[in-house]
Amino acid sequence: EKPEFELKMQPYDGFNYPVEMHNVADQLRNIRDMTLRDDDIFITSYPKSGTHWINEVVYMLLRGHASYCRKHCWLDADGFDTTDNAPSPRIIITHVPIKWLPWRLSQGRVKVIYMTRNPKDVVVSHYNFGVNLAATAFDGEFNYSYIDKFLNGDVPYDSWFRSVLGWEQFPDTHPKVPFMMMNYENMKSNLRQEVEKVAIFLGKAFNEDLLDKIVESCSFSKTKQDKQENPDPRFKTFARDGSQILYRKGEVGDWKNWFTVTDSENFDKVYKEKMAESKLTFRFSV
Ligand code: A3P
Repeated sequence: EKPEFELKMQPYDGFNYPVEMHNVADQLRNIRDMTLRDDDIFITSYPKSGTHWINEVVYMLLRGHASYCRKHCWLDADGFDTTDNAPSPRIIITHVPIKWLPWRLSQGRVKVIYMTRNPKDVVVSHYNFGVNLAATAFDGEFNYSYIDKFLNGDVPYDSWFRSVLGWEQFPDTHPKVPFMMMNYENMKSNLRQEVEKVAIFLGKAFNEDLLDKIVESCSFSKTKQDKQENPDPRFKTFARDGSQILYRKGEVGDWKNWFTVTDSENFDKVYKEKMAESKLTFRFSV
């Protein structure tokens, strides 16, 4: 028998939004109509794909310095006061579906980075985040029900497949937009090379020394330690027990500690069907 549990979400316009996103309809319209600055950088992703990680890399490259303090604009949750007042260049992060992105994006002045991660690690990270998030606060089991819900898109931020398949088409649907897809497993296996790719995409001057320092600062252990010393206040308020919940394990293949053999086989079957038309490939271990 599969244990059942309820996940809090806000369905709107055929998509499951998280409960932390207030006034979804207004918020989405505000995002769609927002004013852009030519030097804005958008980071988009399916949640738990390493959004914060790539944000830190981008921030350090823009600044030309390997240290971080919170400067991004989190569109889905922060709303527009912080975004409007943020100094340039803004790093704007969102998980909303492509159709709700600012219509001005298609004018092609603003750069967009989409971050990806293999979905087995995403579902594990998603589950652990959800379990610890005060707003979601569910007590469900991971095996069976959470994986099923994830595969069906019945989780906050809807379907992973819908996200990656949509973004795979983005260069065709938005031909003017400077666009780059980044990937968690690639960053894990060669962070330096991936940081350099981002620097080139951003058109930022860099040297070997800066790359070395960014690679060091953006390692999982260094980042986790920094965040423990200098916690992001939002996550404290979001977490059920007031702890930092974002920097959990930071590995490729942790899913193997969570999936049963049957879970993995079922997942692979659905993955194969849903990704049949896709050219994207993901590494489930490195
Ligand atoms: P885990 O839960 O598997 O540890 P997002 O920022 O999109 O919410 O993604 C969060 C995931 O990225 C978490 O995964 C987190 O640990 C991981 N992460 C954050 N910073 C990282 C880093 N510097 N290196 C590797 N993984 C990182």
